[in-house]
Amino acid sequence: MSAGNGFNVDALVEPDRVHRNCYADNEIFEREIRQIFHKAWIYVGHESQVPNTGDYATTMIGRQPVIMVRHQDRSIHVLYNRCPHRGAKLCANRAGNTGGNFTCSYHAWQFKLDGKVRHIPIQSGYDNTRFDLNDPNFHMKPVARMEVYRGFVFASLSPTGSSLVDWLGTAIDGINDMCDRAPEGEVEVVPTCFRMIQKSNWKIFLENQLDAVHPSVTHGSTGLAAQQVAKEMEAETGKPAPLSYHYISAFSMEMEKWGDLDVVGHRNGHCVLQGYMGLRPTDPDTLEYDAIMEKHYGAERAKEILDVNIHHLLVYPCLSIQSPLQQLRAVRPISANETMTEIWHFRLKGAPEPIYRRALDYFYLVNSPSTMINADDLYNFRKIQEGLESEGGDWVSFHRNAGQDRVEGDITTSNIGFSEIPMRNQFEAWSDYMKAEDVV
Ligand code: FES
Ligand SMILES: [Fe+2]
Repeated sequence: MSAGNGFNVDALVEPDRVHRNCYADNEIFEREIRQIFHKAWIYVGHESQVPNTGDYATTMIGRQPVIMVRHQDRSIHVLYNRCPHRGAKLCANRAGNTGGNFTCSYHAWQFKLDGKVRHIPIQSGYDNTRFDLNDPNFHMKPVARMEVYRGFVFASLSPTGSSLVDWLGTAIDGINDMCDRAPEGEVEVVPTCFRMIQKSNWKIFLENQLDAVHPSVTHGSTGLAAQQVAKEMEAETGKPAPLSYHYISAFSMEMEKWGDLDVVGHRNGHCVLQGYMGLRPTDPDTLEYDAIMEKHYGAERAKEILDVNIHHLLVYPCLSIQSPLQQLRAVRPISANETMTEIWHFRLKGAPEPIYRRALDYFYLVNSPSTMINADDLYNFRKIQEGLESEGGDWVSFHRNAGQDRVEGDITTSNIGFSEIPMRNQFEAWSDYMKAEDVV
């Protein structure tokens, strides 16, 4: 069915395969920006990035540059990064402190931290014009909607649509999992992120995150090398190799074991990969952490929290979260074949330092731009993009276990980790967004 606007989604997306143009066509990409990134809830940042009055962080929502800023009354505002005078961006840096107001570097108009104009230096010349300080056209524009959930700030450029919590639906468990693992129930960001430009479409990154088949193929050689070094080290010292070796050697796990993970598709394209990769050791640091968790939550609740086995959560279309290791990657599409990802890491408030260091090791060893793991993924992404831009075939196959999913309410599950549910689920949401009328 055509969406009534000449854009035929059904010619591109079938239940078990999608057309290569979804990844390679510039017009489709522009429509994604309008229909998905300018309408859905998009992750802006974490409130701990802006702890003090005047602290700000800049990022992109689709094509729109925005500023997240902390106001004097402690509230957070998300504003378009544009001066209402002649259009200059107000903040050129990725982050900083703007003091009690924003001052434009072009003609020094000043704005309060909620975006309202505070002062313009030359006030003469406006009599008998349509200029009016009370007119919102002369204020910095706020995004249409902004909500914070457990410190995670999301914005939508559309004035209508479901609330953030409703939109997240059952996928909210992944964000809760990240925060609940903190003895104080909150996480805080490690001040800055890696930013990386991938030479591939944004959807290729998201699809890979929950692809349980690829690790033992793509990362197998790296995993085996780490395993071998760990063994040599253990033979030499008589002690177990540091846990960080396990982060990499786990990628050499036999393929069948990856298949034991569960994949879950939630409403709106969100997806979860369940299974913990055996990252809960019983070393003294972990035992100390477990004891602190019990003190804060009681034994029963602490066990419940630590037993949650989410390995990976996708908040479609903007986030990939590994909640047990406090990792978050935000997706900022640039063009059909270029995507920026921000790679963030968080600290569990109230947890001992070694627990933070351990997750930081994972951040550096697995998710940073320079790891052997990530490098192999990036190489794949680029090759996928180049293949999809060729005329060697029109379709991308998502046939594995198609038609065999269990559907219960909003949730589609399979206990076959290799099922391509996550890809089918993301494209179901993609179709809904892309079919909607153009008008915001
Ligand atoms: S463009 Fe900002 S004050 Fe003129
Ligand atoms: Fe990978």
